[in-house]
Amino acid sequence: MLATARHRVIVAPSLLAADFGRLREETEAVAAAGADWLHFDIMDGHFVPNISFGPQVLAALRPHCQLPFDAHLMITPTDPYIRAFAEAGADHITIHPEAGPHPHRSLQLIRSLGKKAGVALNPGTPIESIAWLLELADIVLVMSVNPGFGGQRFLPSQLKKIAALRGAIDAQTRPIALAVDGGIGPETVGDVLAAGADTLIAGTAVFGAPDRAGAIAALRGAAA
Ligand code: DX5
Ligand code: ZN
Repeated sequence: MLATARHRVIVAPSLLAADFGRLREETEAVAAAGADWLHFDIMDGHFVPNISFGPQVLAALRPHCQLPFDAHLMITPTDPYIRAFAEAGADHITIHPEAGPHPHRSLQLIRSLGKKAGVALNPGTPIESIAWLLELADIVLVMSVNPGFGGQRFLPSQLKKIAALRGAIDAQTRPIALAVDGGIGPETVGDVLAAGADTLIAGTAVFGAPDRAGAIAALRGAAA
């Protein structure tokens, strides 16, 4: 069962904003501070204008953290790398339908490997594009910034998309996490949750703060 439920907000710090020279310590710090998932932003410099890290980083951190590893693949092509992330220790693998012609098959592959399958939408992508993917999705991730970098400003236009997805997900017969990713902080959490999100992905708001536990609590508090 995916560690989410409508009533409990999930907080997933994004390692992209962490100190890359201390990834193990940073991982242990947010796990100790009450994070629910650990979000890995995988970037290839092709689908997005930045390069981050690959499956080896998940494998290196896997022995040191019991949290679900939530891999967000901002890469194209995607399919050739899904198995590598599954074998490296990812528990959730989220793909972008914009990254290739067969997202349905990508989600089938992720599920065949026993992992939770996610689908992420760039700000310009309409929710209609995933209408026939919901049956395979355990997570829908709304990008509230254009992907590639942390520390960007939240795009309020995505609030309507979140609300529309809330309705689409509630019409499904199985639980699907509704995650929002980009510019999430105490000042945007209230609107995001009121729109119907239940999973918060935050990089700068957590790793940019001196006190990780306080930052996570602030996100949960803003949710309260
Ligand atoms: C952007 C990534 C986001 C980003 C969030 O492409 O997908 O996860 O790291 O960073 P903040 O929370 O700093 O906006
Ligand atoms: Zn992300």
